Amino acid sequence: MEDQFTLAETAAQSVLQRTGLRPRIGLVLGSGLGGFADSLGEPARIPFAEIPAFPRSTAIGHAGQMVIGKAGAVPVAVMQGRVHLYEGYSPQQVAFPMRVFGRMGIRAVILTNAAGGINVNYQQGALVLIRDHINLQGTNPLAGPNDDRFGVRFPDMTHAYSKDYRAMAQEEAGKLGMRLHEGVYAALLGPSYETPAEINYLRIIGADLVGMSTAFEVIAARNMGIKVLAISCVTNMAAGILDQPLSHQEVMETGERVRSSFEALLRAVLPRVERSQL
Ligand code: HPA
Repeated sequence: MEDQFTLAETAAQSVLQRTGLRPRIGLVLGSGLGGFADSLGEPARIPFAEIPAFPRSTAIGHAGQMVIGKAGAVPVAVMQGRVHLYEGYSPQQVAFPMRVFGRMGIRAVILTNAAGGINVNYQQGALVLIRDHINLQGTNPLAGPNDDRFGVRFPDMTHAYSKDYRAMAQEEAGKLGMRLHEGVYAALLGPSYETPAEINYLRIIGADLVGMSTAFEVIAARNMGIKVLAISCVTNMAAGILDQPLSHQEVMETGERVRSSFEALLRAVLPRVERSQL
């Protein structure tokens, strides 16, 4: 069995062979937020199944392809869909797309997800910049032997979510007349939604949002020194906050509803992130 580094290198080369573009920003589009990838110029669409060693997405609402294309003038690599621990993948498999991004030469990622709102100042459809996370998934994509070619054994997580990028996103949101909250994201295994008691516990420990993704990707990205901007769409208020059951359909519908403002924000932030890399 080849090591993760070699597998990521092989996957990265196979992706880059399919396009003349050389993206330096990677995006991951979460549940109901995948539409942005359909709007890219000069797209090369590569199903996950055609990328060597890449995990395939099984979740509904995740198209499961990487799209390389241009958002305005900015070349980007977009994961339209992602894989999750609850699908039965290992933490390393969940983080593998970040490893491939890294080997493609990408130095900045924008991660998006659907999340339940714990903070009662949020409303369904709110967009929230992730300021920090609490990994409650019980494991870590860096567990196991360390490969120094990716990064150090004990990566710092103090500045996991770039303060610069958050400031840029806030500025651009302001120009668009959009409200952008900031909050702490708790990552749980799922796939069952939380109980009201669990949501109460998450609030007490300092979480504003809850979801089933993103934390592993951020850990792997920081291990490689890739900078991170992460945005949650509050697709529903978390369990027990409103007296109504949660459903995946609601998650998808809210994603669709915020689609245009969400895409406008991404479009505005991308050139800022691009320029800050020069
Ligand atoms: N909980 C966990 N994950 C989620 C939620 C939620 O309420 N909404 C969207 N993803």
